[in-house]
Amino acid sequence: MSKTDIVLLPGDGIGPEIVDAVTEILDAAGADLNYHKYEIGAAEFERNGKLIPDETIDAINKYKIALKGPVTTPIGKGFKSVNVQLRLKFDLYINLRPAYSIANISKFQNVDIVTVRENTEDLYIGEEHQIEDGFEAIKRITVKASDRIIRFAFEYAKANGRKKVTCVHKANILKQSDGLFLARFNEIAKEYPDITPDTKIVDNMCMQLVINPSQFDVIVAPNLYGDILSDLIAGLVGGLGLVPGANLGKEVAIFEAVHGSAPDIAGKGIANPIALLEAAVMMLNHIGKKDIAEKITNAILKTLTNGESLTKDLGGNANTKELTKAIINNL
Ligand SMILES: NC(=O)c1ccc[n+]([C@@H]2O[C@H](COP(=O)([O-])OP(=O)(O)OC[C@H]3O[C@@H](n4cnc5c(N)ncnc54)[C@H](O)[C@@H]3O)[C@@H](O)[C@H]2O)c1
Repeated sequence: MSKTDIVLLPGDGIGPEIVDAVTEILDAAGADLNYHKYEIGAAEFERNGKLIPDETIDAINKYKIALKGPVTTPIGKGFKSVNVQLRLKFDLYINLRPAYSIANISKFQNVDIVTVRENTEDLYIGEEHQIEDGFEAIKRITVKASDRIIRFAFEYAKANGRKKVTCVHKANILKQSDGLFLARFNEIAKEYPDITPDTKIVDNMCMQLVINPSQFDVIVAPNLYGDILSDLIAGLVGGLGLVPGANLGKEVAIFEAVHGSAPDIAGKGIANPIALLEAAVMMLNHIGKKDIAEKITNAILKTLTNGESLTKDLGGNANTKELTKAIINNL
């Protein structure tokens, strides 16, 4: 099998630590990847005054596939999220986030949920304006963006033997914007008679996920609800240290963990690399290296279910290097 070029974006906080761990495991598994390392994020902004340097954009355009560490976005001030900028720049309209239960690790067993999150509009884009006595934010929902993400969710379900797609909305209150998303869902669902369509108002959805998560299969949601629900679902299966995501467009794909830069543990060498490793597994499947992807998945599952070298977020005392070593031993 030939070497595949990928862009490696270590990012901020725990990013560089987990990227090192993941590339070590990928190499040990024989993934045969050519890494092209480029900078993005808050640390790069402080060094060179650019959040996403032009050469990083050029490299993503050239190689089309990137494995990305998390990046820091200042809270309540400062620059616009690098993630949002990348998603808009490359029109990465799909955010695919699978989460499944792991024996001896997850609080809830029988969870196997794929969240399909719209990635290019809604409140999450952060378009805000000053008004006389405060600010207003734009919640944009369009037919084009709704149709392509909803259709993707059904196509994903069909291709992966999934039986049900749940549309999450707040169309009782946001009658026009979420109302449009829901109406497009109900319309597109008719094209997929073998898949059960389901709809839930987002507040009820949160409660249902916590009391009976196994009723859900594929979820499709506008950007902000998708963001919040995928962290909730991560909590059901063992936490943010385990759950990956893929940002997919027509040409470019950027794979990352669901979690952020975890500033509270950055630099301590204790971050869990598995979420980013699972993102790398999604990347390997995407580029056709399915045998290596399976080998790594099996090693992750063996390590976790045996409770070997677990990091603190999983209830253990091991550090990143020890968990990395255990996974490599189980390859
Ligand atoms: N995709 C991304 O780049 C992304 C996603 C979410 C948040 N962020 C950014 O990250 C920064 C921090 O955000 P936050 O603290 O709300 O969320 P976070 O996901 O960084 O951390 C939340 C909690 O989970 C823990 N955690 C996260 N990943 C872990 C891992 N791999 N191993 C062990 N523990 C882990 C952290 O220590 C923290 O206690 C913010 O600037 C935010 O904007 C970036």
